[in-house]
Amino acid sequence: MFLVLVIWLHGAARRLSDLGRRVRLATSGPVIARGDRRRAGNILASGLLGAARCPLARDHELGRPTVVSQASRLADVRYDIRGPVLRRARELEAQGHEIIKLNIGNPAPFGLFTPDAVLSHVTASIADSQGYSDARGIAPAREAVARYFGRLGVAGVTPDDVYLGNGVSELIVMALQALLNPGDEVLVPSPDYPLWTGAVNLGGGRAVHYRCAEDLDWNPDVEHVASLVTPKTRALVIINPNNPTGAVYSRATLLALLEVARRHNLLVLADEIYDQILFDGAIHHSAAALAPDLPVLTMGGMSKTYRLAGFRSGWLVVSGPREPIAEYREGLELLANMRMCPNVPAQHAIPAALDGGIDITPLLLPGGRLRDQRDLAWSALTEIPGVDCYKPAGALYLFPRLDPEVHKIVDDQRMCIDLLEQQHLLLTHGTGFNLPSTDHIRVVFLAPVEVLSEAIGRLGEFLSSYRQ
Ligand SMILES: Cc1ncc(COP(=O)(O)O)c(C=O)c1O
Repeated sequence: MFLVLVIWLHGAARRLSDLGRRVRLATSGPVIARGDRRRAGNILASGLLGAARCPLARDHELGRPTVVSQASRLADVRYDIRGPVLRRARELEAQGHEIIKLNIGNPAPFGLFTPDAVLSHVTASIADSQGYSDARGIAPAREAVARYFGRLGVAGVTPDDVYLGNGVSELIVMALQALLNPGDEVLVPSPDYPLWTGAVNLGGGRAVHYRCAEDLDWNPDVEHVASLVTPKTRALVIINPNNPTGAVYSRATLLALLEVARRHNLLVLADEIYDQILFDGAIHHSAAALAPDLPVLTMGGMSKTYRLAGFRSGWLVVSGPREPIAEYREGLELLANMRMCPNVPAQHAIPAALDGGIDITPLLLPGGRLRDQRDLAWSALTEIPGVDCYKPAGALYLFPRLDPEVHKIVDDQRMCIDLLEQQHLLLTHGTGFNLPSTDHIRVVFLAPVEVLSEAIGRLGEFLSSYRQ
């Protein structure tokens, strides 16, 4: 009996000391995420003295805030085009300053609205939009997208190959989440629309940047693309027409890029959201139409051509051989199901726009608003000493280069903050688009010519004396 008592006391002492050590560990770490604290609490609560009070429960009574840390998978995810520069702009606005904002490709705030016919169709469909739709989207919209792809020359697209989303943004993330395993590599242009890089990294993959060459009118350097392929490469991203450069890729460049994908069994991810915003007779070639033998996911939507960015409405179209990507598509369907469906009222804009003969060309021809704005902005920028710029053949952006011999910029984000503070003009720094050098900025040319003229005047004034 005495022996049993001694053994019990010894065990109890050990459990007590263990409990003390756990309490110290759980309370002294630098940052304990909420889940870990809860787990620590559970360990303690189920410890030796079931009736004893959990010391962590006192945190709340002592007024210590619960520390919530960020998921480590966000460590490599960046979206600087809405980062510190925009935050500073908001602060200045809150102080009452008026900022000229040429930082986002959002047509409506600049008075570029969708045609009435699209809106009235959406309004008339509101009452029918109260339930969830098919997870891939409503049938009339998917049928309209399939017909549109038929007109683009993409063979064999049916409504079953179309997935609608809350903007291309959601579909980019879904497509990559369904594709990537840890460490998988995706070839992404540099510069890129940075959601692509962010979404690859968020999906656990690694964005490997291929060079788009300014002296090739920002066409991709295909040899560089090919040189980056490794056994881990899963996909090739093509953004055409391109944001931020405004490049529209030549047919030869596209065929060469697609050949790299063909040779290495890469899934082609073609972001063609600006496919109809073309200047000076530029021709857009659909990657899917050029490569009917390859699995291609093409993305597009209502935000730009149809000026409905706020509706959050876009499409992803799967083309090419079905068999090899059947399992991947099951993953895509799973993710489509998990978000229930895209916003239903916004989907009704799709058939109205695609089948309704809505044509953006008048805005793009000489005398058209977008054309005039591009021309004015390009001329004004290239008149600034030490600034040169490719004249964009598509999309809504200019991507001027600040000659490092004249403007030695080592930190382009800092420069954009300084520009904002000194001139109340909001532009986006080139490194925000995953460009390795600090010598570019992006200018959105959606604003009316008077505003662009004022803004670029301010940029010239700023650069005339700015030094880093
Ligand atoms: C190349 C590119 N892809 C996708 C998007 C996102 O489009 P959405 O508004 O359909 O999400 C943008 C927006 O600027 C873009 O420039």
